[in-house]
Amino acid sequence: MSKLANTKDLFKKAYDGGYAIGAFNVNNMEILQAIVDAGHEERAPLILQVSAGARKYARHEYLVKLVEAAMLTTDIPIVLHLDHGEDFEVCKSCVDGGFSSVMIDASAKPFQENIKITKQVVEYAHARGVTVEAELGKLAGVEDAVNVKAEDATYTDPAQVKEFVEATGVDSLAIAIGTSHGAFKFKGDPKLDFARLDTISKLVPGFPIVLHGASSVPQALVDECNKYGGKLPGAKGVPEEMLRQAARSAVCKINIDTDLRLAMTATIRKVFVEKPEEFDPRKYLGPARDAIKAVVKNKLKNVLGCSGKA
Ligand code: G3H
Ligand code: 13P
Ligand code: ZN
Repeated sequence: MSKLANTKDLFKKAYDGGYAIGAFNVNNMEILQAIVDAGHEERAPLILQVSAGARKYARHEYLVKLVEAAMLTTDIPIVLHLDHGEDFEVCKSCVDGGFSSVMIDASAKPFQENIKITKQVVEYAHARGVTVEAELGKLAGVEDAVNVKAEDATYTDPAQVKEFVEATGVDSLAIAIGTSHGAFKFKGDPKLDFARLDTISKLVPGFPIVLHGASSVPQALVDECNKYGGKLPGAKGVPEEMLRQAARSAVCKINIDTDLRLAMTATIRKVFVEKPEEFDPRKYLGPARDAIKAVVKNKLKNVLGCSGKA
């Protein structure tokens, strides 16, 4: 079995090649299998990310062993990454517990405190071959342990980026340019601040940028969900064309979770409505897995540009 990859070489190749690696959230076996089978078929490197909520739900040990099992089925590079690590302790526990990459998200803290905590995580992780992502600026929406009201959301200040990157030694940086977590990202027309992204990338040439909250929330998926009893009026995501543009730039990692949740939920709703007599979990989790796999394959091939890069 090959070892977990960290993000170092993958991001260098993605930066130079003008594509992005997909980072997909894992919460159970079916989601993991769908992502890994999609990556395997597309020959795409993958970042499998685990939030605090996922660790609580599925438990750390199970998630690590499930990912190890997945790695027996494929030779594509796989990163096991902590999503939105809240403090040094949770990052340490993932570094010690077999992850190859961690995110320390101290973005809600004052700038100097964010630097201090990020630096502490970087020192601990780098000594153990683990790469680190940090965040500067605040995304709108609800994150694990990071509650930011839309009105308080602030985009990343380019003036802080160079100092942050140099002072912390971090391997990649999540920035806020208008994306947000969940299915309701924009009230009006979708808009991302590409000028800000451009300014930031010029200040730190060659440095990998990360985009969180990058689900597209395709209308077809929302309609499918609603058709079978879901209630998602007004759900709106980041258009695929904007993600293609980001993937060609300094953005090397694009985070997607909501689209997988929508595909899974729409499919399960459909099975329950069309076959109310069904109670074998494999009869709804199996089709849900297929639906997630199709979503991931489309992202890898048609949006992120990372198919064939494994
Ligand atoms: O950042 C948000 C991800 O979608 C993870 O969500 O905290 O509900 O697991 P979660
Ligand atoms: P979405 O909610 O847009 O899928 O974003 C997921 C994410 O950023 C996980 O960190
Ligand atoms: Zn996120």
